[in-house]
Amino acid sequence: MNSPWSLQGRHALVCGASRGIGRAAALALAELGCSVTGLARDGARLTALEAELVAAGAARTASLVADLDDRVALANLVGEHLAAWPAQILVLCTGGPKAGPILGATDEELLVAFGRNVLASQALVRATLPGMKAAGYGRIVTVLSTSVKEPIDNLGVGNTVRGAMGAWAKTLSGELPPGITVNNVLPGYTDTERLSDLASGVAARTGKVVDDVRAGWAALAPEKRIADPAEIGRVVAFLCSPAASFVRGQSIAADGGRMRGI
Ligand SMILES: NC(=O)c1ccc[n+]([C@@H]2O[C@H](COP(=O)([O-])OP(=O)(O)OC[C@H]3O[C@@H](n4cnc5c(N)ncnc54)[C@H](OP(=O)(O)O)[C@@H]3O)[C@@H](O)[C@H]2O)c1
Repeated sequence: MNSPWSLQGRHALVCGASRGIGRAAALALAELGCSVTGLARDGARLTALEAELVAAGAARTASLVADLDDRVALANLVGEHLAAWPAQILVLCTGGPKAGPILGATDEELLVAFGRNVLASQALVRATLPGMKAAGYGRIVTVLSTSVKEPIDNLGVGNTVRGAMGAWAKTLSGELPPGITVNNVLPGYTDTERLSDLASGVAARTGKVVDDVRAGWAALAPEKRIADPAEIGRVVAFLCSPAASFVRGQSIAADGGRMRGI
């Protein structure tokens, strides 16, 4: 654990680890020697991931099959797991809400999104914080969206709940003790199942072909492409590493330069 990049001896609980950006974050943490518990609803994918985590460098792995929408069961399962094996790192990643204008969103859609993001995050921080305090080392990283800074058209519920998460994390940053940080990663367009779903939705709505929708997104960033999930996962892993010890309460975009703000 001497290198400022090494996470050997650390244990991360990674939500949304069954696919996409959460899975890539789990693998990037394993590359730094971190042990990983993946959490999601799809147990088969989590089990398959465990072998890949070991191959990437994780000393130990586990899977928790849990639904972030069922906070009572979530708190029980995670609490029991962490009592036996405390974690010092928490990655908060989950599925994005379905697309649509905010005027068309139902109360139920907003409530579910708030629960899956803010309430689940609150429950998971409560569960992991004792282990972080005992270790004198803690890293909480949320995976949000550039919509924290620049709302994206037709992602009404997503924009709203990302804003809430950004405010939640910044508030938390002021309350956590020294050595325990929270930061947000804001991915740009990234090649995951969610992006494929969004592209199909835009294609159906506009009559464009899916490849043209994706090419349009790629063209928005000076990097002129869609990100590989590993490129986002490694930003998460950096923020979890000792090297990021003075980075706190920040929202860091990995968007190929798409946002124009300084
Ligand atoms: N891809 C992009 O271009 C992009 C850009 C900006 C922001 N983001 C945001 O980054 C996050 C991850 O994106 P992604 O593209 O990797 O999404 P994804 O491919 O849809 O993966 C979402 C992950 O969250 C898990 N999940 C969803 N609902 C859950 C629930 N109720 N309980 C437990 N786990 C749940 C899924 O696992 P199970 O289904 O197995 O539960 C899966 O592992 C999302 O919030 C997304 O909106 C993505």
